Amino acid sequence: MRKTVALSSEMARRLATPNPRTYIGSGKVSEMKSAIHALDVETVIFDDELSPGQLRNLEKVFGKDVRVCDRTALILDIFNQRAATHEAALQVALAQMEYQLPRLTRMWSHLERQAGGRVKGMGEKQIEVDKRILRDQIGVLKKELESVRRHRKLYRNRRVSVPIPVVSLVGYTNAGKSTLLNQLTGANVLAEDRLFATLDPTTRRVQMKNGKEFLLTDTVGFIQKLPTTLVAAFRATLEEISESSLLVHVVDISHPLAEQQIDAVDKVLSELDVSLIPMLIVWNKVDKVSDPEKMKAEAKSRGNVVCLSALNGDGLDDFCNAIQEKLKDSMVWVEALVPFDKGELLSSIHRIGMVETTDYTENGTLVKAYVPLRLARLLTPMRQLYVSP
Ligand code: GTP
Repeated sequence: MRKTVALSSEMARRLATPNPRTYIGSGKVSEMKSAIHALDVETVIFDDELSPGQLRNLEKVFGKDVRVCDRTALILDIFNQRAATHEAALQVALAQMEYQLPRLTRMWSHLERQAGGRVKGMGEKQIEVDKRILRDQIGVLKKELESVRRHRKLYRNRRVSVPIPVVSLVGYTNAGKSTLLNQLTGANVLAEDRLFATLDPTTRRVQMKNGKEFLLTDTVGFIQKLPTTLVAAFRATLEEISESSLLVHVVDISHPLAEQQIDAVDKVLSELDVSLIPMLIVWNKVDKVSDPEKMKAEAKSRGNVVCLSALNGDGLDDFCNAIQEKLKDSMVWVEALVPFDKGELLSSIHRIGMVETTDYTENGTLVKAYVPLRLARLLTPMRQLYVSP
């Protein structure tokens, strides 16, 4: 059987910067070439993004039977297998095509046949024809995606009009978000021990013991060094997060790289418009750590952290209580007269607050709502009265 090897930046760490032609140095290239032939390797995976030139040069050196794949291509492949809904499939297909465009080589010559022979300008070089076909397909996909998103927005607007707070689960891939959602709702969202099992936001209604309800949304798992094409592709999906009243950051605390995973998630979050939204941290998989009691004590001392096992249900009651506290704590009652030119602020109130009434007056919109404290502060200049509920 032929083999696949993964090359991490560790192997090339003696280079201060990656080689512009081949990413790794020339010595390493020949070393790898010998290894590839000795071991009959089929695919070489680089744990970093390669430029189109680096990819081509490496393929040239390693030979036509060896596939060189970079981190982005690998992640796109996995996303492609996991995409379950139409929108996710479109997003991934678009990201894949945009990735392929600058990397087109002769192997894409079949594109012309795919297009059913309706290609004009056959005098063009094959590669130009292929690029044009790919660009056309990208255009079609973008339009289709646009229309799918419009529909989703309509649905979301309807949901926003119901004053139930939305809680979003965010976290590194495989942290246990879907398992937690399933435990709380019996929703049976895909929970599998593989990366990116969830590519689409899934929302379920959770009723707590005191009858209070919230909507819980599962989101795509985050990852370190998320390729830029993918950040763009999933921005729309992740934007749902910015409509939440509360974020729950689920961490696999049993993972040896938990700290780095937390940083990676924080980094993606910092790129989204979520700084106004309060956050609760969940240390999940506490059943897997060597000393669960010590871990629980540590979580308690931090104040903002709940320890639980989404798998066996340990700590779920504490989790629900913490959510309730956070939601209540995080909201204050405001009555604000929002001028008409501050439409953005009004839509923020609708998005992340719980609106009781809105009245249109001569001077603006009079809103009465529970909103997160940080949003209430922004409303201070609008001479609102706010008192604790
Ligand atoms: P993505 O869809 O990639 O974002 O993953 P996710 O965060 O939704 O993770 P998921 O719920 O799919 O769980 C990943 C794996 O971890 C599954 O095999 C779960 O059974 C396992 N898992 C989740 N929670 C726990 C837990 O509390 N303890 C243990 N031991 N395993 C857990």
